[in-house]
Amino acid sequence: MNKHRIFSTSVVKFCLSVVAAGGLLVGAMATALADEASIARGGRLYDKWWNENGAEKPADTHPAYPGKNYKGNATWRCKECHGWDMQGKDGAYSKGKHATGIKGVKGSVGKDTAAIAAIIRDDTHRYTPAMLTDADVADLANFVANGQIDMTQYIAYPSFKSKGDAAKGKVYFETICAGCHGTDGKKVADADPIGTVASNGPEMMMKVLNGQPKEPMPALRALDRQIVTDIVAHLQTLPR
Ligand code: HEC
Ligand code: HEC
Repeated sequence: MNKHRIFSTSVVKFCLSVVAAGGLLVGAMATALADEASIARGGRLYDKWWNENGAEKPADTHPAYPGKNYKGNATWRCKECHGWDMQGKDGAYSKGKHATGIKGVKGSVGKDTAAIAAIIRDDTHRYTPAMLTDADVADLANFVANGQIDMTQYIAYPSFKSKGDAAKGKVYFETICAGCHGTDGKKVADADPIGTVASNGPEMMMKVLNGQPKEPMPALRALDRQIVTDIVAHLQTLPR
């Protein structure tokens, strides 16, 4: 009797630990999946937040914007000060009309998202809750901490040409993208042909991975980075 009880208790314990471990696993997987959607949205907010969240477009020039080349709402885009490659003065915006001398956000990879959220709300950045809600800031911080890629692995500097294989990228473009964009990249009404913007490799990587703010375009973070690089190589062959 005693022996039997010990046996059944340990069976129950074993079952409980299996359930607990299973629960943890499912929990971790759910978090991982949710994170990619949050990271992608953070990437689109980094691109042009007022298109993504429907907030009012800023009218003034950002007080921390040091350049003379841009004014008004453009200077409120994260990408304008920190670059499409997130490398700021050390990346694609080291020279040319977008150069500001401001550092990138690469140093924040892996950092605590609450600390990054505090930076977005600090006296330098001045993003108010009317511009970016706390949920928006959380997605941005998630993107900065967990969603950046090292562009130099996929894009050649300073030509900004994709290092991918355009022939391999073509089949992805023509099956995933062409329904909206056309095989020539010219089908979206009132939009620039993709061939006219594709030379900016880092920008193309961001668009394919995270999608286009406010548009129904997919965020293809689920694809292998090499495939994304191949797609971008194909974009760079499209007619202007
Ligand atoms: C007008 C220019 C400007 C814009 C726009 C801007 N930043 Fe910054 N950001 C700065 C400056 C300047 C610093 C450096 C502050 C310092 O070194 O004290 C900085 C620093 C940072 C840092 C810390 C960098 C590091 O890793 O050390 C993060 C993270 C950051 N910004 C995120 C963002 C995000 C996210 C956005 C968009 C919501 C944004 N920034 C928009 C100017 C800008
Ligand atoms: C459901 C439709 C849809 C799909 C699928 C789609 N896109 Fe888009 N995409 C859009 C729309 C709409 C825009 C916004 C065009 C604009 O306003 O310039 C856009 C914008 C873009 C831009 C930015 C253009 C610019 O001038 O800023 C690029 C690059 C792009 N798409 C590439 C792709 C690629 C590559 C794929 C496939 C991997 C893809 N898109 C799939 C609808 C789609």
